[in-house]
Amino acid sequence: MANVLVGITGGIAAYKATGIIRGLTEAGHEVKVIPTANALRFIGKTTLEALSHNSVDPDLYSDVADVKHVELGQKADLVIVAPATAAFLARYAAGLADDLLLNTLLVTKAPVLVAPAMHTEMWSHATTVRNVRQLRSDGIHVLEPAVGRLTGQDSGVGRLPEAEEIVQAALALLEPQDLRGRRVIVTAGGTREPIDPVRFIGNRSSGKQGLAIARVAQARGADVLVIGANIPTVAGLKMIHVETAAELQQQLVAELGEADVLIQAAAVSDYRVARPSELKLKKAAIGEALDLRLEMNPDLLKLAVETRQPKQLIVGFAAETAANDSELEARALEKIRAKGCDLLVANNVSGGAVFDADDTRVMILDEYGVVSQCSGTKDAVARELVELIATRLRG
Ligand code: CTP
Repeated sequence: MANVLVGITGGIAAYKATGIIRGLTEAGHEVKVIPTANALRFIGKTTLEALSHNSVDPDLYSDVADVKHVELGQKADLVIVAPATAAFLARYAAGLADDLLLNTLLVTKAPVLVAPAMHTEMWSHATTVRNVRQLRSDGIHVLEPAVGRLTGQDSGVGRLPEAEEIVQAALALLEPQDLRGRRVIVTAGGTREPIDPVRFIGNRSSGKQGLAIARVAQARGADVLVIGANIPTVAGLKMIHVETAAELQQQLVAELGEADVLIQAAAVSDYRVARPSELKLKKAAIGEALDLRLEMNPDLLKLAVETRQPKQLIVGFAAETAANDSELEARALEKIRAKGCDLLVANNVSGGAVFDADDTRVMILDEYGVVSQCSGTKDAVARELVELIATRLRG
């Protein structure tokens, strides 16, 4: 758990800070909010107090005896300013400490992430460009604004990035950057094999575990690519979308050569419909029973192992319906030896457990046996797995 300060300045995107505060508290962090006076024209103090579970007092001159800015600045592990207006960037770049937020920012030694949001012309104005350059050379992390609809009718660069993206980028500043320069491919979700243009054979994988792993690896500096099978786009992650096992195979073949690590978390359909119909199948034409002939898909994990580059680390997953832990371990050991990957994350999916849930319980093995057992959120499992991967890459 980290002490995170969220500074909000006076722009229309100030209301989006609610998503940032919520994201941080849900991730278990202690959040204190410092709005500027102008931010409070856009968003209410009550909202900020309710979401942060902490009182909000932006007045530099109240409780002076506590020397608030010094305490806040010294205690912070991380500071986020979102949205940051052009005026704020100018004041910060100049060290103009005339309110609680800027005083706190000049005290803190914690990493600071600033997320600007303003109209395109203001963002590209020479003074803003100069101020951003100054802040970056002072070691402040300034996010690029997103492109999209602005306050008026027009669109362009200057939008505040999605709250989730800001939270991930900020929390990454607390992580060791030991995966910098490493290319990591994570497959996530579940493939779908078409029966006709409307129906498919699919599975219950939500992609949550794969996405959690991707975020943790990216936070530790890795260059991450997610190949997502039937999962939505996630802000801040580089993603390629696929539907079938064949499409997943095609993308893996194209991308794998450059990768240091493959994490094959996707649930790949073992079989596909031999001859999917080009037209929608009609009951009247089929009658009482429908026979579908399925043929086997290639085992993509095994193929990746067989064609692996030297030193490439390959992690597989196993979904097993096991009666107990020792049965899960035995099956997982058999699977890792058959597949030849370096690590295997084994889930017990008896009774449909795990799918789409936020919590999970896994056993992580190498070819010699269990190296870790871990339970909790899919984020916690992701952290444990990425730690094991980082250790192996070091070794
Ligand atoms: N896998 C794959 N290609 C397939 C089937 C599975 O790459 N055609 C990968 C999965 O992504 C996972 C691992 O193999 O990382 C194990 O998947 P799992 O479904 O547990 O095992 P299977 O190999 O399909 O064997 P079985 O279903 O018979 O247990």
